[in-house]
Amino acid sequence: MQNNHQAMDELHRNYRQLMEIQRRVGTERDISRLPDIVMRAVSELLGTDRSTMFLMDWETMQLRACFAQGIEGNAIVVPLRMGIVGASILQRKTLNIVNAHQHPYFNSSVDDLTGYKTDSILASPIIYSDGTVLGGAELLNKKTGRFTQKDEGIFATAVQRLGKLLYDGALDAQQACDEMAVLRGHIAFDRSSIFVMDKAGGQLVALYSEGIEGAKITLTVKLGIAGLATLVNQTLLVPDAHADPRFDPSFDKQTGYYTRNILCIPLQGSNGDALGAIQAINKLTGDFGEQDIEMLTNIAGIISIAIENAMPLKDSDRQFHSILEVLAASIDARDTLTAGHSIRVAKYATGIGSLMGFTETDLDVLRVSAILHDYGKIGVDDCVLKKNGKLDAPEYAHMKQHATITNDILEKIYFARKYRGVPLIASSHHEYLDGSGYPSGLDKNEIPFMAKILAVADVYEALTADRHYRQGMAPERALAILEEGEPDKSPINQETH
Ligand SMILES: [Fe+2]
Repeated sequence: MQNNHQAMDELHRNYRQLMEIQRRVGTERDISRLPDIVMRAVSELLGTDRSTMFLMDWETMQLRACFAQGIEGNAIVVPLRMGIVGASILQRKTLNIVNAHQHPYFNSSVDDLTGYKTDSILASPIIYSDGTVLGGAELLNKKTGRFTQKDEGIFATAVQRLGKLLYDGALDAQQACDEMAVLRGHIAFDRSSIFVMDKAGGQLVALYSEGIEGAKITLTVKLGIAGLATLVNQTLLVPDAHADPRFDPSFDKQTGYYTRNILCIPLQGSNGDALGAIQAINKLTGDFGEQDIEMLTNIAGIISIAIENAMPLKDSDRQFHSILEVLAASIDARDTLTAGHSIRVAKYATGIGSLMGFTETDLDVLRVSAILHDYGKIGVDDCVLKKNGKLDAPEYAHMKQHATITNDILEKIYFARKYRGVPLIASSHHEYLDGSGYPSGLDKNEIPFMAKILAVADVYEALTADRHYRQGMAPERALAILEEGEPDKSPINQETH
């Protein structure tokens, strides 16, 4: 029994280490940084001195280091047929070497060059699931002496996952399901499901359900534990399901299954949107505990990223942004005097936002608002919009309508959660701090902060851009004018509507 417990603890620890690596990977969107992140994380977790990752160059039959911890300067290139990593690739297996310098495959040239002394090595090939060899990786000098069998398992799994990420570019839903299957073995529960909320937000659809045969499971969000965990965005631990009023017993009644206990963790998108929930049912021995919550929470984070990365969402995102570009281009097409204005304002506004430490989500909202800020010009008469001189009072009043029209049109577009502020932000770019602006005369406390950034970016763009009838101002002059005071008090007012 004692041994059993030790073995479980060991499994939990191994799994947690792998989860930690994957958690770090999961938040990284730049693929080129993955070797660095994964190799450093593995090296740190397994307590080694150095790590190197090589990619295979089949044309020259060489291995090129794409990450080399602890080695400065030039890239390392070694022939495939020399050295331990090459041997692990050719033999397609992990090699665990205790005394490198006495090993026939060891290539001492790097040690000779750098004065480093390699003792122990753990090397593993990186092979994609279709059999393609991508490269290999090695860890050098385990601090406690030699690499264990457990290290071999963790390292091999970590580099395989790295290979998949590099090859596929992202975690996918299938991988999320694989994780869930692995987890089932580690926590030891009877059934598990990954539920994803449908587009309308009323149903949870099972992306995966292990231990349950037959038809696809669909649940109503308003009924049961998974729906509740999704809606309130909270982990729910249910020790006795049938005694819990939140539990919906209809599924048990239908199938004859008996649900004893449940652990349910919500899935959340990077912007805080509810995506669904993962659920483990009937812990095989006793109740779900802290350790189970921790492991399931870790995997919930990874699955959330996988779901967000899944194609339909990416597609809709791409579609959304391409529609924005079309909208921006259609304003440009009408107002050729200022073609490209919105895109440039977006560039300046997000530049300001980045300097102020905005999150990616906020930068995205700012960018969308900037692209659409002048969309209402679509409703301004040509003779005013394209007038090549100072507007008279009635014309100016007509021009000012564009802010109201921007708001009216954007209000009619359905903006998903994080973009909800876009109509107000976009249409408030002519509001002034003293309340004398338009369309609503908001004061400095009422104007959305992003609208203030838009106003600055808008004026800066208008001052510095070349128009066909005059050259753009130098950036220093434009900045000086901006610093002088509010744009509506300056002579450039005419150009920044
Ligand atoms: Fe405007």
